[in-house]
Amino acid sequence: MSSSRGTAVVTGASGGIGALYAYGLAERGYDLVLTGRQPAALDATAASARKAGVNVETIIADLAKPEDLARVEARIANDAAISALINNAGTATFAPLGKLSLAALDDTIAVNITALTRLTRAVLPGLTARGTGAIVNFASVLAFHPWPEFGVYDASKAYVVSFSQALQGEVADKGILVQVVVPPAVDTAFWTAAGIPVSNLPAGAVMTPQDLVGAALKGLDRGEAWVFPSLPDVGAWEDFQKARQALVGGLMRGQPAPRYAP
Ligand SMILES: NC(=O)c1ccc[n+]([C@@H]2O[C@H](COP(=O)([O-])OP(=O)(O)OC[C@H]3O[C@@H](n4cnc5c(N)ncnc54)[C@H](OP(=O)(O)O)[C@@H]3O)[C@@H](O)[C@H]2O)c1
Repeated sequence: MSSSRGTAVVTGASGGIGALYAYGLAERGYDLVLTGRQPAALDATAASARKAGVNVETIIADLAKPEDLARVEARIANDAAISALINNAGTATFAPLGKLSLAALDDTIAVNITALTRLTRAVLPGLTARGTGAIVNFASVLAFHPWPEFGVYDASKAYVVSFSQALQGEVADKGILVQVVVPPAVDTAFWTAAGIPVSNLPAGAVMTPQDLVGAALKGLDRGEAWVFPSLPDVGAWEDFQKARQALVGGLMRGQPAPRYAP
């Protein structure tokens, strides 16, 4: 039996935000395709999600490896049951750029940018043809707050914001939700993996993964294009967009500004 909600693909479902998000989707009746690198952890997420009575498939894949990414793309590209893609997998390493290993640098770009973009491209024609579905892209507050020694990660999340915003315009009349979730710091293994204990962050600035995912799923239920789980007043985002548009209006001119006049 397949679910009437269709199948949601969740990357990075072996722990942290992705695992909780997968449970929330299962409770909402989505069948699941879950990806991650750690088989035992991914199986544990799958077993918990199946308790909601949905079908769950797991794919062990390192999204930084082109052959693994191609395998996930091939699996999801032509499956008419797919109704949602949750681009949650993400990675980061804290280091001054000159000391950041090439492997860490490449992995951050490969997972946070390349995989997110290619998986989105893989499901988009099917969602467009069916005129329904959701693509949820996990960004970060650091997309708007470049943090020294974390620049590759920050910029990868700025890419997620810019790419998603452009795609929102592209699919505006196609019945597809392209949603961006902008978490603050969240207490997951992400920080240890990045090389900064979460205890080093200001305590009042860190959200629990349960609160984060609860808010993100409410945003999905409501069909919000932008989900800012910690932002009290979304007017701040609207003001930011107005300021951005004013800047762009000033930039898109074919003449040198007076201070650069020939
Ligand atoms: N935690 C935060 O403070 C925070 C704040 C803002 C945004 N975010 C974003 O939220 C998302 C989830 O983060 P999280 O806090 O849940 O982090 P997490 O606990 O470290 O989980 C990250 C997930 O991504 C997967 N992943 C990492 N590298 C991968 C690779 N090379 N190939 C395949 N999967 C890979 C991991 O799976 P495996 O380990 O099985 O490979 C894991 O399931 C990320 O996009 C992150 O950037 C997090």
